Amino acid sequence: MSNSELIKKIPKAELHLHIEGTLEPKMVFQLAERNNIKLPYANAQELAAKYNFSDLQSFLDLYYQATDVLQTEQDFFDLTWAYLEHCAEDNVVHCEIFFDPQSHTSRGVPFADVIQGIHKALVAGEEKLGITSQLILCFLRHLPEEDALKTWDEAQPWLSLISGVGLDSSERDFPPNLFANVFAKAKEAGLKLVAHAGEEGPAQYIEQALDILKIDRIDHGVRITESDELMDRVAKDNIALTVCPLSNVRLCVYSQMQEHPLLELLDRGLRVMINSDDPAYFGGYMNQNFHAVDEALNPSKEQIILLAKNSILASFLTDQEKQTWL
Ligand code: HPA
Ligand code: ZN
Repeated sequence: MSNSELIKKIPKAELHLHIEGTLEPKMVFQLAERNNIKLPYANAQELAAKYNFSDLQSFLDLYYQATDVLQTEQDFFDLTWAYLEHCAEDNVVHCEIFFDPQSHTSRGVPFADVIQGIHKALVAGEEKLGITSQLILCFLRHLPEEDALKTWDEAQPWLSLISGVGLDSSERDFPPNLFANVFAKAKEAGLKLVAHAGEEGPAQYIEQALDILKIDRIDHGVRITESDELMDRVAKDNIALTVCPLSNVRLCVYSQMQEHPLLELLDRGLRVMINSDDPAYFGGYMNQNFHAVDEALNPSKEQIILLAKNSILASFLTDQEKQTWL
């Protein structure tokens, strides 16, 4: 079997995926029309032509602007359903999806509409496509913790639909320790904890996320390569890193895929796997990320199998559920 065939066939989980990052230019235009919104672009091609990023912030500016077209429960349902169809195509059998309630409630969209639209699509995804899923509420770190605490309060009626909380948006100058109180509350409520750390921020942010926020899994985490000591600790404690190869290249964390440390981290015994982050913006869904890695880094079949296996092992499925896929 070729690597390409193996990538296609092997079951995998996606653990780092922002549902707002699956909003394709075509859907931006469809939803803008449905919701009577005038866009500053003539068409989807003109919007897609702007997807030329120099760093995380240059992406986030466009990403938050595009989310304005998401207004109704149906919009969130349609967005999520379209992503699940990509999962089915790529043999993603389980996904753990981030959503950013603050980017919607700040525009007057009720929390209930956001979460119900996403949740109903996830239920349909399990029934119709056999894809299991969990939801992770992310706090926006460029906003004060006070805002995150308000969002935590708003989330209370919906906690049964949420498995965990995360931390995303602009990393530089917004270290994890700013969010210690809201993460402590989520931990007390029994939720899983994750945080973006070491994407653009230094390895110390990964350490802070582990020591202060007490996270269960690190999102991105690639700048861990700056600290041998931290790599040893994370390997020993089996803390997973949800790595996003195309994202890292498109946001200029690495100037080309050949420089990506994914396989070095894997060979060092860290629990890394492949994810798509914001596939509508970064050039592809799960299998396109695998193919880009395959082309640039030339992994062995064993390495591909281990990357897929790590995605299942690092998921928040129960040990029994994981066994189905191992
Ligand atoms: N990093 C931080 N925040 C984000 C990202 C990311 O890669 N994608 C969407 N929000
Ligand atoms: Zn991300």
